Amino acid sequence: VSLRPYNTFGLEVKARWLARFRSVEELRALLALPEVQQAQKLILGGGSNLLFTRDFDGVVLKNEISGLDIISQDEETALVRAGAGESWHGLVQYTLEQELSGIENLSLIPGTVGAAPLQNIGAYGAELKDTFDHLEALEIATGQLRTFSQAECGFGYRESVFKGPLKNQFIVTGVVLRLRRRHQANVSYGAIRTTLDDMGIGPEPTPRQVSEAVVSIRRSKLPDPTEIGNAGSFFKNPELSQQKYGELKAHYADLPGYPVPGGVKVPAAWLIEQCGWKGRRLGAHGVHDRQALVLVNHGGAQGEDIRNLAFEIIASVREKFGVELHPEVNIL
Ligand code: EPU
Repeated sequence: VSLRPYNTFGLEVKARWLARFRSVEELRALLALPEVQQAQKLILGGGSNLLFTRDFDGVVLKNEISGLDIISQDEETALVRAGAGESWHGLVQYTLEQELSGIENLSLIPGTVGAAPLQNIGAYGAELKDTFDHLEALEIATGQLRTFSQAECGFGYRESVFKGPLKNQFIVTGVVLRLRRRHQANVSYGAIRTTLDDMGIGPEPTPRQVSEAVVSIRRSKLPDPTEIGNAGSFFKNPELSQQKYGELKAHYADLPGYPVPGGVKVPAAWLIEQCGWKGRRLGAHGVHDRQALVLVNHGGAQGEDIRNLAFEIIASVREKFGVELHPEVNIL
């Protein structure tokens, strides 16, 4: 089966089998098949954080569990449950229609609801964990459903227990968020504030207005994967010690930095741009011209080319700044 439609890099790779499941029962039935039990398995959501460097000799299980519901509410908050196969942005739009706030800053992030907790998606001053209540996941080994609280998910910056100790052991089937019924905009991210100003919107934007601002910022910087293959940020933003940051800042006065517990986070995009990579094109692949953190497939690139480019970028940032970049995208 061609995986071309199932990875946002638009890479032409194949899998041995592809099966879809629309419910926990269908998933259990698939996992009970001997062919599936013996094969290597890849759980696929939107394929928006994956780089295939070769064909996948196993079974791809595509999560298509749907459902968007308010399961309970009180004066202040509502609990919203979403099936893991729903599109993330579809969930954002649903919450805006229900006049709930909390995930409007995460508008237009590609991918599915089920993939969101794996790397604690984040953008424009918000992270999934800020509104996350719990999730339901099926244990592959036993077929049992289990609930994971916020604490049990071990969320960090683009991290969770599902990327670490529990990797490949659970399949997320549903996610429950606690959203606010009273609006409280988060415009801490400078670009949101300036975009709202440009839109002529006052100091108390509605969630929908914040969402529109985020959509407009994303459209201006990030390539649309239906037009140019990409998987968003290819690297994580590195966290440096105060000392290392101070040393670099003495040489590079323009180096941006955001304080985090234990150090300073610096934009990988800045480091990459300083190494001269921004907008570089090497045949069919390259570095996006408006966001240096995004690697792109202009059409016809091979996954291996993109991986090699990533390694070259890592090496040049290491050489120039002594900083180690780590991929954020899952390389297979
Ligand atoms: N910058 C450059 N050159 C560039 C782009 C950015 O020097 O080409 C510098 C600028 O100093 C800019 C700063 O980097 O002020 C931050 O840029 P931006 O707001 O675009 O954010 P980012 O740190 O590059 C992160 C996330 C994005 C998320 C944005 C917005 C990671 C790995 N990436 O990027 O997430 O949308 O913030 O909050 O943390 C993703 O994970 O796929 C993703 C797109």
